Amino acid sequence: MAHLPPLEFTGNAIRILDQTRLPHAEARLELRDLDAVAAAITDMRVRGAPLIGATAACGVALALRERADDATLAHALAVLGATRPTAVNLHWALARMARALDPLPAGERAEAAAREAAAIIAEDAQMNARIGQHGLGMLRTLAEAGHGRVNVMTHCNAGWLATLEHGTALSPIYAAHAEGIDVHVWVSETRPRNQGLLTAWELAASGVPLTLVADNAAGLLMARGQVDVVITGADRVAANGDSANKIGTYLKALAAADNGLPFYIAAPMSTVDFGCPDGGAIPIEDRAGAEVREVAGRDADGRPATVRIAPDDLPVANPAFDVTPARLITGIITEHGICAPSALHDLPGAER
Ligand code: MRU
Repeated sequence: MAHLPPLEFTGNAIRILDQTRLPHAEARLELRDLDAVAAAITDMRVRGAPLIGATAACGVALALRERADDATLAHALAVLGATRPTAVNLHWALARMARALDPLPAGERAEAAAREAAAIIAEDAQMNARIGQHGLGMLRTLAEAGHGRVNVMTHCNAGWLATLEHGTALSPIYAAHAEGIDVHVWVSETRPRNQGLLTAWELAASGVPLTLVADNAAGLLMARGQVDVVITGADRVAANGDSANKIGTYLKALAAADNGLPFYIAAPMSTVDFGCPDGGAIPIEDRAGAEVREVAGRDADGRPATVRIAPDDLPVANPAFDVTPARLITGIITEHGICAPSALHDLPGAER
C-alpha cells in the first residue's frame, strides 16, 4: 500500500481520511465515539459502500468499549443503521456484528466486536484484490483487440478510497496498469458531490492515465468510439442483478447499450442483497438540496470555499443513486469471477 489507509481502527478510536477535504487536503480525523462515527458516515467524511460498512463495524466496537449490554448494542446498531440507506454493505456489516455479538455475554462482547471489525477490514481488501484479477482478464482481452490500449469509463469513486484497499471498479484497472497494459480512464466528475475528483486523484497518484470529463460528456465519447468498456461499482445489487450505484450510472449504461459497449458492475458479494428481489425494492437516498445549490472547491489562496450557484428558495431534488436494470449489465465482477446478472444465485455464498 503506497498510500495512507482510508480507515484505521486503533481499538480506542477510528482514524479516517476525511473525504470531504479531498482532493485538496489529506486531512486525518479521529472518531472516538458512536455519534462521531455516525456523523462521519452521514456527512460522507467516509463514503463508498464497503468503507462505510467497515466503518460502521468499527463504530459498534467503539460503542461497546465501556458497556456492552443488550441495550447498548441495540442502540449502536440502530444509530449506525440509520446513517445511509442505499449501500447494503452498511446493513450487511451491522447484521454480521449482531450475529457475532448477540449470543455472547456482555463481558466478552467488546473484544469480540474489535475482532469481527478487523476481520471485515481484512476480508474486504482480499475480496477486492480478487475482483481485480477477474476483471484484469477482461481488460487484457479488450486491450489485445484494441492494439494494446484500452479506454475504460467509470463513474463516481469505487477505488481504494471507497473500500479498504484496491477498490472495486478501479481494482481491475490498477491490476491492468501494474501488468503494463496501456489503460486510460475517462473519469466523470459525478455532480453534485464530485466523487470523480477522488477517482482522478487516486488514479493520478498511481500513475494511471486519466481524463476528467463532465458527466454529460459520456454519450458523445462512446458514440465517437473513444470508450471500450464501462466499469462502475455498486451500492446494492438486487437478487435479479439490478444494481444501484451513484446517480448518473443508469445513463452511462443506457449510452453503453446504444453504442454496443460492455457495461460491468464490480462489487463484492457483501454488496449483493438477496433479500431485495429487484431494483424497485432498493431504497434510494435523497440528500440535502444544498449539495445541488452549491459547489465546493478552493479559493484563490487554496482555502476550502463553497460557491452558491442557485438561490436558497429554488426547488431542488437530490437523489443520490439510481438503478441500472440487469438487462443493461454485461456482467458483474465479484470475488468469485465474472457472472451474468441472472447467475448471481449460482455463486458461492449466495442465498438461494
Ligand atoms: O455516495 P457515495 O460516495 O458513498 O457513493 C459511492 C458509490 O456510489 C460507489 O460507486 C459505490 O459505493 C461502490 S464503492 C466501491
